[in-house]
Amino acid sequence: MNRSDFSLLVNNKDIIYFDNGATTLKPKCVIDSIDDYYNNYSVNVHRGEYDLSFKADEIYNEARENVAKFINAKSNEIIFTSGTTDSINFVVDGFMKSYLHEGDEVLITYAEHASNVLPWFNLVNDIHIKVSYIPLDSNYHVTLDNVKKSITKNTKVISLAGITNVIGDVRPIKEICILAHKNNILVLEDGAQSVPHMKCDVKDSDVDFLCFSGHKMCGPTGIGVLYIKESLEDKLKPVRLGGGMNESFDSPSDICLKDAPIRYEAGTPNIAGIIGLNSAVKYLSSIGMDKIHEHECMLKTHLVKRLKEYKYIKLLNNINDSGIVSFNIDNIFSQDVGYYLNKYHICVRTGNHCAKILKYETNVTQTVRVSLYFYNTIEEIDKLCDLLSDYDKIRKEMII
Ligand code: ALA
Repeated sequence: MNRSDFSLLVNNKDIIYFDNGATTLKPKCVIDSIDDYYNNYSVNVHRGEYDLSFKADEIYNEARENVAKFINAKSNEIIFTSGTTDSINFVVDGFMKSYLHEGDEVLITYAEHASNVLPWFNLVNDIHIKVSYIPLDSNYHVTLDNVKKSITKNTKVISLAGITNVIGDVRPIKEICILAHKNNILVLEDGAQSVPHMKCDVKDSDVDFLCFSGHKMCGPTGIGVLYIKESLEDKLKPVRLGGGMNESFDSPSDICLKDAPIRYEAGTPNIAGIIGLNSAVKYLSSIGMDKIHEHECMLKTHLVKRLKEYKYIKLLNNINDSGIVSFNIDNIFSQDVGYYLNKYHICVRTGNHCAKILKYETNVTQTVRVSLYFYNTIEEIDKLCDLLSDYDKIRKEMII
């Protein structure tokens, strides 16, 4: 689907890109919008009284509106950050550090990415909160029943990926929010792998925080989003202070900040990144998120069916509704499989994928991960599976 929009695919017919969980390719419209900014109006925003600056302001503000529309939020609920990691750290440092107290409990799972584990571990060390783990079922999925059983009188936050980056399970965030809110628990969704791949509607899910990255959804690197529910904004403290975010200041006791979200974006923002993200959300919307999700699920079903033909391939996650498939080949290190596939210009990710405590659920420390996007094809999957269909060839070629 839409392959001609991606020069990397057009100019490199032999490359098969299956590492979309790490980052996605960039369509021409995104690259052109960044190029246009740098060539034709590369000035600062919110500072100049001249036409070029007004133009930059206009596109910058339009970007916030479009990103908000993309997840059905209000534009003042959108804060630009450098990525999902930055967004989660912002919530933890700017909100949770004063909201939570010693003994309060945060529920996560062993399947979370480092960026949804380490910031919470820091709070364990700093203010002595407790991190507990919702047990996963036999497919390594989160069930509502297990969430219910994990909640205690001390639980204050549930922080989960919408889709995990190794197992690829789609979590029931809306149902978790209903349950959590009944118990006065806040919910943070790590949307790094969900927002780029399926329709995410914050009004419908009622999630309190949603964090995601531009570069995993056809946008540039270095730009991300923190959605925070408007009613919680007064409890979020800016973690960076400086120009652009203040109304006035005269002394330490006389500082007046601008309204949200500008108060959270100190310094010159990543203007080119925001412009690129604006193009990316318009581009994805023009294709349709439901269509993207449907295409990925169709490809995934085909991939799983083919991989199951080979008894030496052990799938970690054959049941999920996303385009993420993780597996191992008997007695071959995942990195060696990656090395073998690279000889045929196939890009996959291997290793632990930053989900370093997932091993406590799966007893598997590393995998080969294929993560699909809408521009992948059945033919590409068949080429991958054909290359994996000969165990002796893999063993022979992985070392030479
Ligand atoms: N979080 C990214 C991945 O899963 C980098 O590959």
